[in-house]
Amino acid sequence: MSKKINLRSTAWFGTSDKNGFMYRSWMKNQGIPDHEFDGRPIIGICNTWSELTPCNSHFRKIAEHVKKGVLEAGGYPVEFPVFSNGESNLRPTAMFTRNLASMDVEEAIRGNPIDGVVLLTGCDKTTPALLMGAASCDIPTIVVTGGPMLNGKHKGKDIGAGTIVWQMNEDLKAGKITLNEFLSAESGMSRSVGTCNTMGTASTMACMAEALGTSLPHNAAIPAVDSRRYVLAHLSGSRIVDMVKEDLRLSHILTKEAFENAIKVNAAIGGSTNAVIHLKAIAGRIGVDLNLEDWSRVGRGMPTIVDLQPSGRFLMEEFYYSGGLPAVIRRMGEANLLPHPKALTVNGKSIWDNCHNSPIYNDEVIRKIENPINKDGGMCILHGNLAPKGAVLKPSAATPELMKHRGRAVVFEDFDDYKAKIDDPNLDVDETCILVLKNVGPKGYPGMAEVGNMGLPPKILAKGVTDMVRISDARMSGTAYGTVVLHVAPEAMAGGPLAAVKNGDFIELDAYAGKLNLEITDEELTLRLQHLKESSNEINNNISGGYRNLYINHVLQADEGCDFDFLVGCRGSDIPRHSH
Ligand code: FES
Repeated sequence: MSKKINLRSTAWFGTSDKNGFMYRSWMKNQGIPDHEFDGRPIIGICNTWSELTPCNSHFRKIAEHVKKGVLEAGGYPVEFPVFSNGESNLRPTAMFTRNLASMDVEEAIRGNPIDGVVLLTGCDKTTPALLMGAASCDIPTIVVTGGPMLNGKHKGKDIGAGTIVWQMNEDLKAGKITLNEFLSAESGMSRSVGTCNTMGTASTMACMAEALGTSLPHNAAIPAVDSRRYVLAHLSGSRIVDMVKEDLRLSHILTKEAFENAIKVNAAIGGSTNAVIHLKAIAGRIGVDLNLEDWSRVGRGMPTIVDLQPSGRFLMEEFYYSGGLPAVIRRMGEANLLPHPKALTVNGKSIWDNCHNSPIYNDEVIRKIENPINKDGGMCILHGNLAPKGAVLKPSAATPELMKHRGRAVVFEDFDDYKAKIDDPNLDVDETCILVLKNVGPKGYPGMAEVGNMGLPPKILAKGVTDMVRISDARMSGTAYGTVVLHVAPEAMAGGPLAAVKNGDFIELDAYAGKLNLEITDEELTLRLQHLKESSNEINNNISGGYRNLYINHVLQADEGCDFDFLVGCRGSDIPRHSH
């Protein structure tokens, strides 16, 4: 080490007193020799491995490669587990435990002898949860995601994880396929470890981590089982040691400029609406002021140039083979569409230095700016008397003709009500109606489930109609599609106007103008909300204690990132007191 650096870990291992004895001695029971405590950087490997999170089930192997890199660069790796919130198994929704995981990460980093940390993330919520926790500590941090799974295969064709389920389920309900045909796709969808291979939330958040500058170039797209994923893990392990020596902390990278780059990249890749919530939450932890208007101001006008499902045709394997995210950033920069080319990344170079020469191998997958799959891919942020604090619609997943639409509301009071009625042939609905789902927001579900892309009534599907306007306070899976208005804030359970919508009301959506309005007078709206107040209080008082109680009482609304009110902010890495 050429320059003397102040390591956090010396507060544990660097003294010759009783405390130093105790801290070192217990660590030595793992076979660590004396010389490893000579003041070298201690690198935490924050692992979300779990057999219940199949997308992250290969992370022990990734951790081994990170360790090799750390050792090679003169650091000492220590792997530790944190709560693994896997999307596919966890109920009520992995979003319910995102903040819990972030608390685990924050306290594990701050309370332990760690000088820098490698975050092993993959499945949807693991990336934001770990970045949120690390941002609240602000030590040198690098993200290694697990990579997407191989392309799914069914009847000789590629199928995308998640997206195929929505498609085939609608075909089943429309009577186009049998149950046996539906189930026959199950084994071919998930053929390897790794995250969903569409541009769903996991791939989006991996791209966001790379666009923010928190991971090495190409991290987002290398397939989970490609040997280059393990090379990247190795290199990340080496790099974090140097980041500690350079004191290159997360706050140097997660600047407002980095978030603006990420918003623009999200439009270019046709990324998930969930990114709107997660980026806000991460920004809040590092002290960057990000709001919904930034998505309109920065993101609108950026064409979607990555032709991946669910907005387009291909999958993450093709994305990597075509050049991955650096190729997208090159396209953006060459068209002057990268807002902040000088933004710093974890390798110490700017994002433009990293990407300006990146090869682009396939113009169909990573299209030229002048040949996009959607001319204006940025998120539509909507406001109006139905969403005073905003709502979100993803235009690249929507039907252009429905982006401006007026229709009669068909209302479901909650998800159970929706399930009970949607298949009823007597449901009073046609394809011009707007489906409205209430009480599926952060407090209402609780956890803001991914049910906003509610399936259409079978009698509408049978006509060959594949999309209708849908409005809710829920989220939508990043693998889903449709003209779906999401994240309505405030949510119904928090007394938002969504709660007041009745069957037969008319709603006007104008996504181009950013408007979402319920066609009733202000007086009528106030009266209806007043009437609902008592019953919603009854529901709020009827919570069952435990984490659920903490969640409902402290979760912020969608426009504020759904973080807990008491977790927003950077609390730094000051070393807690000795316990002995
Ligand atoms: Fe884990 Fe999709 S379920 S990434």
